[in-house]
Amino acid sequence: MTHSIPHGGELVNQIDLNFDFSSISSEVKIDRMALSDLELIANGAYSPLTGFLGKDDYESVLHNMMLKNEMVWSIPITLPVTEKAAKRLIIGEPIKLLFDNTVYGILHVEEIYTPDKLLEAKLVYQTTDKNHPGVKKLQERPNVYVAGPVTLTKIPSKNKKFLQYYNSPSETRKAFEQNNWKTVVGFQTRNPVHRAHEFIQKCALETVDGLFLNPLVGETKSDDIPADVRMESYEVLLKNYYPSERVFLSVFPAAMRYAGPKEAVFHALVRKNYGCTHFIVGRDHAGVGDYYGTYDAQEIFKQFSPEEIGINILCFEHSFYCKKCENMSSRKTCPHGKEDHLHLSGTKVREMLRNGITPPPQFSRPEVIEVLMRGMES
Ligand code: ADX
Repeated sequence: MTHSIPHGGELVNQIDLNFDFSSISSEVKIDRMALSDLELIANGAYSPLTGFLGKDDYESVLHNMMLKNEMVWSIPITLPVTEKAAKRLIIGEPIKLLFDNTVYGILHVEEIYTPDKLLEAKLVYQTTDKNHPGVKKLQERPNVYVAGPVTLTKIPSKNKKFLQYYNSPSETRKAFEQNNWKTVVGFQTRNPVHRAHEFIQKCALETVDGLFLNPLVGETKSDDIPADVRMESYEVLLKNYYPSERVFLSVFPAAMRYAGPKEAVFHALVRKNYGCTHFIVGRDHAGVGDYYGTYDAQEIFKQFSPEEIGINILCFEHSFYCKKCENMSSRKTCPHGKEDHLHLSGTKVREMLRNGITPPPQFSRPEVIEVLMRGMES
């Protein structure tokens, strides 16, 4: 068994696929982000959360990165509804949660409150700039939060094309156990795996038993590479360059927040729930633009004791290909100057792909590039 204990001690399970909601008449529409949060609360990925946050927990998370029971939690998981919808809700009663006219779950309404979104933006994203995709999303979502415990009655990810790569935390824990992995490193990504990602994953894999490649496939900003193209790129990469018995590929259905350091803490806790003992945090983890310092997402972990986090954080320096070293390295291992390092920005790579120019194999495996180029055409 892995030595990873879920956050809060036990995996939450709030799934009841046979739940009879025929007597419940109240309902609210929820957005795609809330749908993915509902699923991840219910399947235990967000343990110890059992529902959408009430006001005290919400404020404690914003100000102290803790739930009111003093467990670390860095991203507020909330259910926004419109003012009109909120007026129809009654505290103490259950409501159906609808997405695309389908009931996915039930929430027992415990609280209804109006957040200060500017303050939320400042505290979670460290900016109120609407150009920040997380802040933009926060502002676009409805203005009232409804809180209370949830039951998932239908699993959203089971409708999706990545069904074969969908696993709940209890399933991944079982799989790690069956593989006899005592130590497992989790890797979050919203991008294709390029050589720098491969390098840090394989450095970690030199010292642990297994790699849990856990790409985020929930909502991302429009210029990120779509999840289906990325999934295909992971498949070809794993097939050609990774020992199959040491890697477990599984999707992470959450939406991307782009909250940099605070999202790194959230990402680590969630991977602990999936059964990982280690988690990789590299350069500008979950960052966007220039909102966060390159290593802020590593520094933030210093605010907590190892026991509070409960998963080993493996920090990696910015890595790159060095022409003189003739391999992947970082400032920690390479003595050469910038002129010898291959650096391609995400924007530059997208431009090359659009123009049919193949980025060099030192940047990305040719099999991955081929999938990305095909993905761009369709
Ligand atoms: S993220 O938003 O999901 O963090 P991305 O998929 O690019 O974005 O990164 C996945 C992980 O790899 C993160 O931990 C990130 O810090 C790390 N990473 C990405 N590129 C590099 C790099 N060149 N050097 C070191 N770490 C990197």
